Amino acid sequence: MHYKKILVTGGLGFIGSHTVVELINNNYEVIIIDDLSNSNLDVISGIKKITNKKINFISLDLKNKKEVIDFFNKNHSQIDGIIHFAAYKYVGESVSDPIKYYENNLVSLINILSTIKELSLNMNFVFSSSCTVYGRTNNSPIKETEIIVKAESPYGNTKQICEEILKDFSNSYNNINVISLRYFNPIGAHPSGEIGELPIGKPQNLVPFITQSVIGLYPELIVFGDDYGTKDGTCIRDYIDVVDLAKAHVASLSYIQKENTNKNNYETFNLGSGKGFSVLEVIKTFEKINNIKVNFKFGDRRNGDVETIFSDIEKAGRLLKWTTQVPLENSLKNAWTWEKKIRNKKF
Ligand code: WQD
Repeated sequence: MHYKKILVTGGLGFIGSHTVVELINNNYEVIIIDDLSNSNLDVISGIKKITNKKINFISLDLKNKKEVIDFFNKNHSQIDGIIHFAAYKYVGESVSDPIKYYENNLVSLINILSTIKELSLNMNFVFSSSCTVYGRTNNSPIKETEIIVKAESPYGNTKQICEEILKDFSNSYNNINVISLRYFNPIGAHPSGEIGELPIGKPQNLVPFITQSVIGLYPELIVFGDDYGTKDGTCIRDYIDVVDLAKAHVASLSYIQKENTNKNNYETFNLGSGKGFSVLEVIKTFEKINNIKVNFKFGDRRNGDVETIFSDIEKAGRLLKWTTQVPLENSLKNAWTWEKKIRNKKF
């Protein structure tokens, strides 16, 4: 039996590590590249415990073109596809240090693509994008055809620019098929408790802030705004479990290998549950499923937050044959199990 070999950049990160597990579960061979800038070697042991497989890991800085060329010169004959996660992802940090974001997120992608071209590789390419490319829109459920307006942050802008680069490149280079996956709000952890999210510093996202405040790292959660025009006054988001998200990458690889995408070799998919939950609903669900109190109070609105955003899931269902399976309760249970585990075990 032929096992397809997939390169996963950023494969030790939150979504990357869960995707590696799902790839291995589906008999893919995986090579992980990661520069460990926002991840940890202990993630490899977590992946090993879940899959019982030896993990092929290479520490490499994708900003260094020579390292990228050398890597492909050594390994390219075996690589059938790339899932490109490796990128910086903190919205706030991207505002205070935009060059860090433009340099890392753009140069890494450009180095991979220019190497593919220079070595004339045939490649299937899945790009880790974000619903942030839609900027400030209140047009939910959002379809892939939604008009892209200016991004709210340098981080969001890097995702928009990377998508543009991929579109132009796939237009000019026929031996690549590209899918950009626009994630909504990824949450949760692997149900085994072996891998999960490891945010550095004070978490900016809702679910890691809930778990870290409940564990005692912060006195309380501030709910940003209670006067939005929603059912309970708090913002509505489309939370997607990280294992469901990981499975969408496997579905994308099957699709890209079979269908060769469309005639432009480039397609985008929204990945969400199609359902919106308010901040208060997330808090209440967390409390109920974990039987623990979340200490919170209402604060001012956060700059840049849109009132309601959730995904239209028709295209992903029709073409990738993928929909979410994990209910919000389970994601919040797994996120809490993971938080408890990492506080007992120092990473
Ligand atoms: C969710 C809701 C907050 C923290 C971000 C990125 C986006 C994408 C997904 C990657 C909002 C509220 C939060 C807190 C709160 N990521 N909240 N108190 O902003 O929807 O999207 O992650 O591409 O690009 O911007 O996610 O988790 O920060 O916020 O009340 O302490 O929780 O106001 O309504 P967001 P989030």
